[in-house]
Amino acid sequence: MLNNLISASILSADMLRLGEEVHRLEKNNIDMLHFDVMDGVFVNNITYGLPILKAIRKITDLTLDVHLMITEPHRYVSRFAEFGADIISFHLESESDVMETITQIKASGAKAAVAIKPSTPAEKVFEYLPFADMILVMTVEPGFGGQSFIPETADKVRIIRRRLNEIGLDTDIQVDGGIDIITAEIVKKAGANVLVSGSFLFQSDNMAEAAAKMKGNT
Ligand code: DX5
Ligand code: ZN
Repeated sequence: MLNNLISASILSADMLRLGEEVHRLEKNNIDMLHFDVMDGVFVNNITYGLPILKAIRKITDLTLDVHLMITEPHRYVSRFAEFGADIISFHLESESDVMETITQIKASGAKAAVAIKPSTPAEKVFEYLPFADMILVMTVEPGFGGQSFIPETADKVRIIRRRLNEIGLDTDIQVDGGIDIITAEIVKKAGANVLVSGSFLFQSDNMAEAAAKMKGNT
């Protein structure tokens, strides 16, 4: 049985108090820190990149889960690994060769994850399942925090989990976008076990309790 894990998206953190926010995740037993990199080309938004990741790496031992929403991820994955990423997700819809990028991420010592947008069919990831450490199913259109969960994406989680079972793998499936206590139940039932949460988690009064509820530990 796979562990349910919470990855907190710092897109919803107080950017001017980022250090304190990182320690807040540690104090509230959050499993991973989700770091969204957007380049203004692959998605219509720009966030943060390598120097901020490096600064975060210096102050925490949390698993750094980097989500690259950039057009040519293969050009940058080695540097993200070097700057402290433990897991690197990149999009199947990007301009990079998927197999080559997975290989490059693993060679730089990080775990490799393939991400798909809501409009990409689940079957597109099948050929990469034996090689990827995690599959990221976007449950909103990538680009912004605070959007509503797209219910149809749960079917894609179900299809990928079924296929993983058929081929005897227990690979992590991560979901990202609009995850709160209610939608967490839906995606967990479908077979997801790594839940990214940004706005819901950072807005909760008791982050530890919110995370435990999403994981199903209460
Ligand atoms: C959206 C990002 C998400 C986002 C999730 O493109 O990939 O990680 O921060 O935020 P919420 O939980 O607010 O939907
Ligand atoms: Zn993300």
